[in-house]
Amino acid sequence: MLLGTQKVNAHGELEIGGVSCVELAKEFGTPLYVMDEEHIRSVCRQYKEAFRAKYPTDVDIIYAGKAFLTLAMCKLVEHEGLSLDVSTGGELHTAVAAGFPAERVYMHGNNKSDEEVCLALDTGVGRIVIDSLDEIGQISRLAQGRKVPALLRITPGIKAKTHEYIQTAQLDSKFGLGIVSGQAIQGMRMALGSRTVELKGVHCHIGSQLLGLDCYRETVRVMFELLADVRRETGFEARELNVGGGLGIRYVSDHVDQTPTIGALAATIEEAVITHSKRLSYPIPKLMVEPGRSIVGEAGTTLYTVGVVKEIPGVRTYVAVDGGLSDNPRPAMYQAEYEIIVANKAAEPRTETVTIAGKHCETDVLIYDASSQPISSGDIIAVQSTGAYNYSMASNYNRLPRPAVVFVTGGRADIAVERETWADMVSHDRIPERILDGR
Ligand code: LLP
Repeated sequence: MLLGTQKVNAHGELEIGGVSCVELAKEFGTPLYVMDEEHIRSVCRQYKEAFRAKYPTDVDIIYAGKAFLTLAMCKLVEHEGLSLDVSTGGELHTAVAAGFPAERVYMHGNNKSDEEVCLALDTGVGRIVIDSLDEIGQISRLAQGRKVPALLRITPGIKAKTHEYIQTAQLDSKFGLGIVSGQAIQGMRMALGSRTVELKGVHCHIGSQLLGLDCYRETVRVMFELLADVRRETGFEARELNVGGGLGIRYVSDHVDQTPTIGALAATIEEAVITHSKRLSYPIPKLMVEPGRSIVGEAGTTLYTVGVVKEIPGVRTYVAVDGGLSDNPRPAMYQAEYEIIVANKAAEPRTETVTIAGKHCETDVLIYDASSQPISSGDIIAVQSTGAYNYSMASNYNRLPRPAVVFVTGGRADIAVERETWADMVSHDRIPERILDGR
């Protein structure tokens, strides 16, 4: 499985963006997050083209920054003409620091602090996505006479087929306002009655790493039924419908045939929107989608250096790398699967089965029984499809500095995030004087 611009070069080395991964490891050290810039741009364009090709009104493609957000990523997203979903003050601050156009920012969050709401209002974000009944009051209290364009996050009550930790739209969810519980309609009434909130429409997000499209069809139907009920009661017609993100990506070869294309996603959602608009005589709303993982996931590759190789006769061979749980918590959290390529032996046949483990004081296995080229200490391993929810979920467990991020394209590699250092690990520490004194 080679993704994006990945290929095996004449030296038998894995290359991304025209740069050898062996050279990248030498120049920038490991672990290293490598981002395939051309692949990211190409996916952004596919989203824009697929969703705009046939849809009769406006479409907004909103990159979900939680998947991977840095200043360079904000710039890239801006230049590709996408909008940006931020879900905390920190993500919003990143967008502001990158000079991202405020009117293209959607401010999410299920528990926004007053500080975050004020930052969003002062920045002039395009939309606040209201997640709770409490938040309507909070916004009114903080708006100081300003009108606040908003969407209301609805929980459509759909159980998406994915890992239960990343299902978000079932009734029992901390996100949004449920339809079945009556809170959705109550929230709509409250927002419509508010002098501050300018309700533009509704939002929903049903889950992540979805490999089927039926749940989108079903979601659109449920959302339209809610909108029709709200119109019957209040006369309000939503101008905007945001159906969230969630499209799955290829983590392993098995996913190659299972992953829907962006074209198929667009066709499914748009067909459903148009069908239900017609059926209910509802004006076709502006459509928004909010992909995160599918924009950056396959574009990211993590490079590690192999250290200890421990063969337990008759059991398995552990290949330990210089990162692990701290740079990729996904195997531990979601039993996520990955594949590897030995970057310096990429042309060799895969004759081995090895277990890739990290260096943490945990059994932080990244991949059980990975099919691999022959492997020994000093080799460079590439773990594919680590662009989403790896850097953004990285930690400093065991005081491991977080890896650098480089963007590669056309034979060039540039730092987007500097590697943390051991000095960084103590830079926020303070020793209270009494402890320093030994009292
Ligand atoms: N919009 C909202 C409101 C979301 O909550 C999310 C993801 C997205 C959009 C983007 O979804 P995507 O296209 O990336 O599936 N850490 C987990 C994934 C958590 C997803 C959270 N919300 C993982 O590593 O799998």
